[in-house]
Amino acid sequence: MILLDGKKVASDIKAEIAIEVRHLKDKGTKTPHLAAIIVGNNGASITYVNAKVKACERVGFESTLVRLPEEISESELLNEIAILNIDNTIDGFIVQLPLPKHIDEQKVLMAVNPNKDVDGFHPTNVGKMALNLPTFISATPFGILELLERYQVETSGKHVVVLGRSHIVGSPMSILLSQKRKVGNATVTMCHSRTKNLKALTLQADIIIAAIGIPEFLKADMVKENVTVIDVGITRLADSSKKSGFKLVGDVAFEEVAKKSEFITPVPGGVGPMTIAMLLKNTLLACKRNA
Ligand code: GUN
Repeated sequence: MILLDGKKVASDIKAEIAIEVRHLKDKGTKTPHLAAIIVGNNGASITYVNAKVKACERVGFESTLVRLPEEISESELLNEIAILNIDNTIDGFIVQLPLPKHIDEQKVLMAVNPNKDVDGFHPTNVGKMALNLPTFISATPFGILELLERYQVETSGKHVVVLGRSHIVGSPMSILLSQKRKVGNATVTMCHSRTKNLKALTLQADIIIAAIGIPEFLKADMVKENVTVIDVGITRLADSSKKSGFKLVGDVAFEEVAKKSEFITPVPGGVGPMTIAMLLKNTLLACKRNA
C-alpha cells in the first residue's frame, strides 16, 4: 500500500510556486493577489479560508480577506463581488461556500468575472473544462489529477468509479478523467444516491473517487484487491479525546480499505491540502495571464 501523501505533494507545489513568485518579483512583475469573501460564521469555512490566506502569505502572494455578516443581503454581496471584479490589483478571488440559505449560490457564482474565477465555478469555466479547453479547473478535481500524476497512478484504460455527483467534485472529476488528457482516458462510472447495485460497481473499479460526505461509507468488502482510492470526504465527528472536540473522518473506512489498496489517500492529509495548493496555482495562472 502506498499512501498518496497530499500534505507532502501540496508542500512541494507551494515550494515550486514560491520560486515562481520570487522570479516574478525579481523581474518587477506584479505579485499574485488572491481575495476571498466569506459570509457568516461557519467554523469549518472560517478554518478553510484562514488556511487559504495563510498559504498565500507562505508563497509570497498578496491576499485580501473580505468578511461579511451572516445577514448580508444578496444584492449587497453581489455589490462586493462587483468591486473585486473591477479591482485591477486582484488577480483572482473566491466566494467561500456554503452561503447562507437566503442567498442564491448560483446567482453569486455567476456574478464572478470568469477571468478572476480561480475556483473555476463560473458556468463559462465549467463549460470550458467540459470541452477540455484551457481554463481554471476547480481546486479539488485539479488537486486529485495532480496527485495521481505525481504518484504516476495509471488512469488510461482504467475503470474509475466516482461516488457522488456534486458540482464541486463528482461531476467535474467524471468529466476530466474520461477526457483525452495526461491523467485521463479512463472509463468512468458515476454513482449517486439513486444508483442500484453500487457494490457490484465499486467491486469492478480500478480507481474509486469517494465524494459523498458519508463518513466511512466505502468498506473493504466493496473494493477489489490493488484498488486505488481517493477519499474526498471530510466530516467533523465529535471526539472528546481531541483538543478541538472533533476528529476528521473521510468517506472511506481507511484502516480496512488500505489493506486492499495499491494507493490510497489519508484523511486528513490527502486531498484536503492539495485543494489549497491548486487554488494558489490557479491564482498564479490568473496573474500570469494579466501580466
Ligand atoms: N467550500 C468547499 N469547497 C470549496 C471550494 O473549493 N471553494 C469554495 N469557494 N468554497 C468551498
